[in-house]
Amino acid sequence: MNFKEEINRLKKELDVTLVAHFYQRDEVFELADITGDSLELAKKAKETNSKYIVFCGVGFMGESVKVLSPEKTVLMPKIACCAMARMIDEGYYEQNLKIINEAGIPNENILPITYINSSAAVKAKVGEMGGMVCTSSNAYKIIEKGLESGKKIFFVPDRCLGQNFAKQMNLKSSVVGDGTNLKEADIICYNGFCSVHQLFTPDDVEFYREKYPDILVAVHPECDPSVCDAADFVGSTSQLINYIKELPIEQKVVVGTEFNMVNRLRDKNTYILSSTKPECPTMNETTLEDVYKTLKSIEDNNINEETLIKVDDNVIKWAKVALKRMLEI
Ligand code: 13P
Ligand code: SF4
Repeated sequence: MNFKEEINRLKKELDVTLVAHFYQRDEVFELADITGDSLELAKKAKETNSKYIVFCGVGFMGESVKVLSPEKTVLMPKIACCAMARMIDEGYYEQNLKIINEAGIPNENILPITYINSSAAVKAKVGEMGGMVCTSSNAYKIIEKGLESGKKIFFVPDRCLGQNFAKQMNLKSSVVGDGTNLKEADIICYNGFCSVHQLFTPDDVEFYREKYPDILVAVHPECDPSVCDAADFVGSTSQLINYIKELPIEQKVVVGTEFNMVNRLRDKNTYILSSTKPECPTMNETTLEDVYKTLKSIEDNNINEETLIKVDDNVIKWAKVALKRMLEI
């Protein structure tokens, strides 16, 4: 079967929008109606009028669309869970808050901010406590807004993102459990991270700078602060693409983010900032066949329950509050 032809036929015949993140496999990415970074995808998918959203990405992305538009049927051909999002659940969230309280900081002095790479249940906890969501493209603005409350920021789950933006803003950060005095920090980070972006090291940066003295280094803020400090540009997936596309063709640039996205920028003078292929295993799970099967299940009126995104009403209520606070800023 020619999956590509069949997917295009089904897309025309059904009231469906196909959404894909930049890290998806090329063959899936090429067929999408909407592509973008996490913030763009959440906004654009919410604005579509289609009855069905077929989302190719990781679980928290599909969940965010469902939370923002509960009336839509959101399907994920593979509900693959981002490794970082899996590092925190409501229990770990509460446990960390308790540690912060025990360090002498009561809840009324804490404003939680969750990176969008977290479950809807964690977003709901944050929303209930007066906090909000941020993405890699708007974290600076959201943290700045959060600090206007005069409270300390409890940033979950990505410690690297929290530490990187704290540095950019000349603020002090700590990680829960790192032995530092949490009372001295402006941003207290949960100890989560992205295993893919942890692959990049300052040695990799040094290697490329020695080999090509004029090379530029562009990385995602999920990289360790030691890597971001050594880079020329730090940005979300969309921001990285725009930065690289603007460079003159002769300008070499080494990029620290997921392989599929960097590989798609081969028409520019790009290199990958690692000797190990930085593939996100969960983003790579979705195949053309999976997308076809999901669309076919809509045509046949026989949707596979496993592909259907479901979020509890109470979770939707508070997670929506946290997401909307972000969208309003
Ligand atoms: P962006 O929001 O920059 O697309 O990042 C999503 C992600 O999961 C990066 O690892
Ligand atoms: Fe999650 Fe990292 Fe994959 Fe992004 S690259 S989806 S943060 S595991």
